[in-house]
Amino acid sequence: MTNSNTIRWTQDDTGVVTLTLDDPNQSANTMNRDFQTSLATVADRLAAGKEAIRGVVITSAKKTFFAGGDLRELIAIRPEDAETAFAAIEAVKRDLRRIETLGVPVVAAINGSALGGGYEIALACHHRVALDAKGSKIGLPEVTLGLLPGGGGVTRTVRLLGVTDALLKVLVQGTQYPPRAALDAGLVHEVVDTPEELLEKARSFIDAHPESRQPWDAEGYRIPGGAPSHPKLAANLPAFPATLRKQTAGAPYPAPRAVLAAAVEGALLDFETASTVESRYFVGLATGQTAKNMIQGFFFDLQAVNAGRSRPSGPEPRTVRKVAVLGAGMMGAGIAYACARAGIEVVLKDVSADNARKGKAYAEGLLAKALAKGRTTERKRDELLARITPTADVADLAGCDAVIEAVFEDPALKHQVFQEVQHVVAPDALLCSNTSTLPITLLAEGVERPDGFVGLHFFSPVDKMPLVEIIKGERTGDEALARAFDLVRQIRKTPIVVNDSRGFFTSRVIGRFITEGVAMVGEGVPAASVEQAAAQAGYPAKVLSLMDELTLTLPRRIREETRRATEAAGGTWTPHPADAVIDRMVEEFGRPGRSGGAGFYDYVDGRRAGLWAGLAEHFGKDLAPGEIPFEDLKERMLFVEALDTVRCLEEGVLTSVADANVGSLLGIGFPGWTGGALQYINGYEGGPAGFVARAEELRAAYGERFAPSPLLREKAEKGELFRD
Ligand code: NAI
Repeated sequence: MTNSNTIRWTQDDTGVVTLTLDDPNQSANTMNRDFQTSLATVADRLAAGKEAIRGVVITSAKKTFFAGGDLRELIAIRPEDAETAFAAIEAVKRDLRRIETLGVPVVAAINGSALGGGYEIALACHHRVALDAKGSKIGLPEVTLGLLPGGGGVTRTVRLLGVTDALLKVLVQGTQYPPRAALDAGLVHEVVDTPEELLEKARSFIDAHPESRQPWDAEGYRIPGGAPSHPKLAANLPAFPATLRKQTAGAPYPAPRAVLAAAVEGALLDFETASTVESRYFVGLATGQTAKNMIQGFFFDLQAVNAGRSRPSGPEPRTVRKVAVLGAGMMGAGIAYACARAGIEVVLKDVSADNARKGKAYAEGLLAKALAKGRTTERKRDELLARITPTADVADLAGCDAVIEAVFEDPALKHQVFQEVQHVVAPDALLCSNTSTLPITLLAEGVERPDGFVGLHFFSPVDKMPLVEIIKGERTGDEALARAFDLVRQIRKTPIVVNDSRGFFTSRVIGRFITEGVAMVGEGVPAASVEQAAAQAGYPAKVLSLMDELTLTLPRRIREETRRATEAAGGTWTPHPADAVIDRMVEEFGRPGRSGGAGFYDYVDGRRAGLWAGLAEHFGKDLAPGEIPFEDLKERMLFVEALDTVRCLEEGVLTSVADANVGSLLGIGFPGWTGGALQYINGYEGGPAGFVARAEELRAAYGERFAPSPLLREKAEKGELFRD
């Protein structure tokens, strides 16, 4: 019998009610309005029929248990909706609380992922049994979207685990646990292997605990580890804000701080008041811009990108069975590991068998670490390693249906290796180059099937970096592009698709950020302030250190090439203020970067020591302290990248807003709180128009590179956001 839209009610003759979460309009259950209404109906019905009910099992008919808050609804909440949003979340919590305190045992039979709101429903149950389903995750990842678990997640985890563990294991990082790890962390009570066992365990709990209630509703209950006033905890708590500051480096991430406040305040209050305080913090975050940015970039755009927004739709999906990786250096070794991890046979070729074996040894090293941390088993390790065949013999590449080339960055060498292999591998093999700077169109000239040739730009270290930039050369066909896309998905990475252009998208735009930092040094800004500004803007890397890593000779080479190309095309070449700084560093001071032993930083035994003291002496001593506002330093870095991202879209290098946001977030460390380089413009105070006004100010103060391009002006004038 169905009595509500999204929650199916069945009651057996022993008095056990099973509530099956099954939203008829969506592939996953979310905490949308329909659910809220259904939950209220169910809570009423349970209360009314209580005498005849012996226990309640909550489970789901979907692949996942429950997907959490409805992000479409959440992203649309405006500041003026705060009270409505507060009332809505309070209503859901009241209904969950009614079920929790009904006086009969309530069990969550978690049949798949229970994240966010899904785990919050489970937390309101007296017992949590999880099915060890493949890919299933349990936890409260709200913080990664700029939110906090406002459906009772903070209040209940604090009471379940204690303040410290709740913060560290669950709330502050938003860790998503596979079921067995969730058991170890104390998030669930039991883990089972089959759906049948799941229901059996739920029933046996009901049989054994006819009068179940939550630990926190029992007489004499104390928060594990003590309330914040407990001397031991009180001594530890002051360290938390400092830890958070270190994690966020002063960048505008309000969620971790709100989580901390809600947890600590909540631990001092009774359950109901704590829950209300939590709702207030939640609404504060949900109505703010950071959560909207993060939901847009890390959820909607990421989902669109992974779902194939930029994949040509014609070609049928294909999987790669056996891949040839050419070059077993840093990148080749990482690519080989990533492919083998996804179950693909890998032939790893280098000039000598010894080099190739060293490449495979990299995978062995990573697996040894994973094994030590319990992240893999000996059997899985052995199977993975057995899939990597190191070789120096081209003949071993026979039958490969894809080639990924990662030899030295030399066009002649790249042409040569493709010549060698193109007749050995499968006749229709997908041909990819991992070049970071060479035009794909140029490289494709060296193969007999340029339509089957594509750029596949991985990031270092390959095993950790989630993005791959797919580059379409002038002659790359749709079939190759689609196959490259499918290959990237097959190895569980995120593919953005860009058109061939100097530096593609990621290298080009990160270059703007780095040269901006270098230009600041030339203006006399203390180098430490430059690094501090990048950190406070939210960048994960130090900008001058990044320059040292890339070596200062690289921008010099690129500059020369660009200058020649610009002038050859009849254009005028304008130097960048960073050029003079780089030239002096290399020519006058002999400091070309880390590989040369000295750059903006000193290096001792190859390790980064402090910033070079000479910077203060040689660059712009006339600058008065504070003459350049610190806010300008931060915004200049963000603006040069965002402005150039718009130009990439305008020039057709990028073909979608989602690719732009995801590529900037995952590929070049554009700060997460912005939701990506274009979402940063959308979310800037005043939207694109506000952004343009500020760009004009920066332009007047610092130069033409801050000039808004026509597309940006158009958006500003029309009051439109960057959206696909
Ligand atoms: P690497 O110097 O670590 O490795 C290159 C390997 O290619 C060496 O092991 C070398 O022995 C091998 N090799 C040379 N000639 C060969 C041939 N004829 N056949 C087979 N193997 C040969 O270089 P890395 O850093 O791995 O870079 C490789 C490529 O990836 C370059 O095109 C680079 O631009 C690109 N790339 C590098 C990134 C990085 O962060 N290092 C990031 C993205 C792309």
